[in-house]
Amino acid sequence: MARAPADRYRCSACGYESLKWLGRCPECEAWNTFEQYTPAAARGSAGGGRSARSRAADGGRDSAGGAPRGRGGALRGEFGSGDGDASAGSEAAEVVWLHELEGRAPERVSSGIGELNRVLGGGFVPGAAVVIGGEPGIGKSTLMLQAAAAAELSTLYLSGEESPRQIALRAERLGLRAARIRVAAETELGRIEALLAEQKPQLVIVDSVQTLFAAELGGIAGGVTQVRACAQELTDWARRSGAVLLMVAHVTKEGSIAGPKLLEHIVDAVLHFEHTDNELRFLRAAKNRFGAIEEIGLFAMEERGLQEVLDPATIFLVRRTAPVPAGIAAAPVFEGTRILLVELQALTVPAKGGVSRVFSDRIDSGRVSRVAAVLERHLGIGFSDQDIYVNVAGGIRIGEVGVELPLAVALYSARTERPVPPGVIVAGELSLAGEVRPVRLIERRAKTARELGYGRFYGPPVKGGGGANEAHHEKTHTVESLRDCIEAVFGRAAG
Ligand code: TYD
Ligand code: MG
Repeated sequence: MARAPADRYRCSACGYESLKWLGRCPECEAWNTFEQYTPAAARGSAGGGRSARSRAADGGRDSAGGAPRGRGGALRGEFGSGDGDASAGSEAAEVVWLHELEGRAPERVSSGIGELNRVLGGGFVPGAAVVIGGEPGIGKSTLMLQAAAAAELSTLYLSGEESPRQIALRAERLGLRAARIRVAAETELGRIEALLAEQKPQLVIVDSVQTLFAAELGGIAGGVTQVRACAQELTDWARRSGAVLLMVAHVTKEGSIAGPKLLEHIVDAVLHFEHTDNELRFLRAAKNRFGAIEEIGLFAMEERGLQEVLDPATIFLVRRTAPVPAGIAAAPVFEGTRILLVELQALTVPAKGGVSRVFSDRIDSGRVSRVAAVLERHLGIGFSDQDIYVNVAGGIRIGEVGVELPLAVALYSARTERPVPPGVIVAGELSLAGEVRPVRLIERRAKTARELGYGRFYGPPVKGGGGANEAHHEKTHTVESLRDCIEAVFGRAAG
């Protein structure tokens, strides 16, 4: 009652709004991020002379879908074709016939880095804004600098985190061609817009979006209002001018600063840079308006910056000289259009207190429970009094159904203490009835596995293939049921 009716609460991490204070944000699940604020409408007469910037701040989600998108920078695919500093509100949007634009894939410009192009869906799209999110220290600035040097574009690097001198040192240490890169340690939006109008770059890197601020807006740099408004303004500028905009956004565990999630509705693509257990880095798209989001990019951070991992098939396999212990099975799984061979590790121990639990971070634990239940029901292997631990070497998460049959093999091996014989590999989906279901591109999995030393491949029948897999160029052995598979791999099944 005492509360002024117009006051609201907003998550400082993702911008989610609520009428009451919440301990945990239902949108981004961050804790203790809600802050009180007064919406602009309630500020009354102060709204009279508001700029597009502050309207964007208050209604970022709505204005993100508004007029500036239709202005055609991306569709024309030309750099610097628009008037970078034309006021967005002064003229009506151009009207176009849809059929004239149909079927034209967006023009792509190579970033000069294959793995980055892959995740982007083929390269940069002129006029598009891309956010690169990740924890501090993961390598975002390094990637930006390498892309700036590799892309054949005139680049303006706006740094709010490092001085131009530090960036120059890094470029020198990495041996990068820095001839086309201009750097400015500028973070104030108005001055940035002036710089953009003057320099007319084809590629703009903002490092980081959390250091930006617009002098006439309230709030602190890095806060929801500032980050959203500045990102919106620059995104609109990119659309008008046809330049490529890359914005670095830090993600922190505490979620106390506005992060990539906040910008998802504003920009065209959001890429996440993440760690694995070994020194590899993944680049993944969480959103991509111009391409699929299933491809991952793989990098290793080395002495001289990020190196692309061009042939990732074996990087997650564990090399051993000793025989492979029980509980381990290899699996050929798809990540996007590439096959990775991964090592699944299973361990079962008697459950304490008689309650069976599953500990599995890398494969959904519901899937692990289901596969264990199928083994129990159809092969009589008891798991209900066991705790089950499942891991994937290298720390990669696997969500693909083709991992189910290898998971069953690893669990069987762990529970019976019979190691998988050398050279054996399996792939397939498992039904609750204990059947082995087809998975896509089984022949490619078999081929990759054979090239990497797995001579005995067991998998489901090929979809639409007439009976036996005789049409296979690759030698695969068809298994129709889990029992078939276990007997083929281990000899006569126990139980
Ligand atoms: P950086 O790109 O600064 O990360 P971010 O911008 O995401 O905060 O890189 C962070 C780490 O990478 C830093 O701890 C040092 C390491 N690194 C290398 O190992 N090799 C290199 O060549 C470079 C440039 C950085
Ligand atoms: Mg950085």
